[in-house]
Amino acid sequence: MSKHMTNIITGIAEIAEGIFRMRISSGYISANAKPGQFVNIKCCEGNDALLRRPISICSVDRPGDTYDIVFQKKGGGTGMLAGKKPGDRIDVLGPLGNSFDTGARHRRIAVVGGGIGVFPLLFVLDDSRAIVRRSYLGFRTSKLVVLENEFRFRSSSLEIATDDGSYGTKGFAPDILRRDISVEDFDMIYACGPEPMLRKVSQLAGEHNIECQISLEQRMGCGFGTCLACACKTANGEDGWKYSHVCKDGPVFNSRSIIFD
Ligand SMILES: Cc1cc2nc3c(=O)[nH]c(=O)nc-3n(C[C@H](O)[C@H](O)[C@H](O)COP(=O)(O)OP(=O)(O)OC[C@H]3O[C@@H](n4cnc5c(N)ncnc54)[C@H](O)[C@@H]3O)c2cc1C
Ligand code: FES
Repeated sequence: MSKHMTNIITGIAEIAEGIFRMRISSGYISANAKPGQFVNIKCCEGNDALLRRPISICSVDRPGDTYDIVFQKKGGGTGMLAGKKPGDRIDVLGPLGNSFDTGARHRRIAVVGGGIGVFPLLFVLDDSRAIVRRSYLGFRTSKLVVLENEFRFRSSSLEIATDDGSYGTKGFAPDILRRDISVEDFDMIYACGPEPMLRKVSQLAGEHNIECQISLEQRMGCGFGTCLACACKTANGEDGWKYSHVCKDGPVFNSRSIIFD
């Protein structure tokens, strides 16, 4: 169950250009959060619920009663968060949304992340009991490569791709997955990132009949199902479709249920 609370920031650092890792104290979130869930942080003064911003939970430290978020400074909301200092308080709703299925039956997994979509996948690796765990991460350029050591430490192998080839393999993470997928015998793929990346990963998983869960990072308004800002198309019956809400029905969906436009 999600709670509305005030949390205290215990640490903040810029880990790459415009990308910040923030450690936040909360026994409740660290104890209850599951991989894929997010917090909705109020990024303004006053009561405007539309100025909450959803940020994935990147990792939790249960003994230490803290959780980490990593965010890219984009506009007013994340800009305001980036200016926070240790000891500052933030107004948080969470943990929100459904979660990735990291059940023990998934023994050979791949995680595929792009840009800000890599952050929730660290928590997936922490929670998973898979014996083979291959990570495929994509970034626009070398300056934006983050959490490399954290992913390497938790993965059987790590592949990094950059769009411009300034670090790792030139190209896109799903293309490296495509190379490995027919020999690796994965039983689950977890993905989060920009829509073109998710579309490719979903297609690959479908072609190889591998279960795949994807997390969507749609723009949000209210964060609890009333404003319709976060609608996405999902399959409904044999040939039909309906709108689902990323905030209420997601952010994690079975890749087969998402209809990409
Ligand atoms: C479930 C969920 C989890 C998320 N987790 C993370 C996370 O862990 N780390 C992180 O950095 N971001 C994450 N995001 C995206 C983050 O919420 C947005 O970047 C943030 O809301 C932007 O707010 P802002 O006020 O700073 O920018 P705004 O002023 O609202 O927008 C500035 C620019 O950012 C673009 N933008 C806004 N929202 C998004 C979005 N959702 N996706 C892509 N571009 C956007 C706008 O189009 C605009 O160009 C997540 C989003 C969702 C829905
Ligand atoms: S953000 Fe308002 S309905 Fe999802």
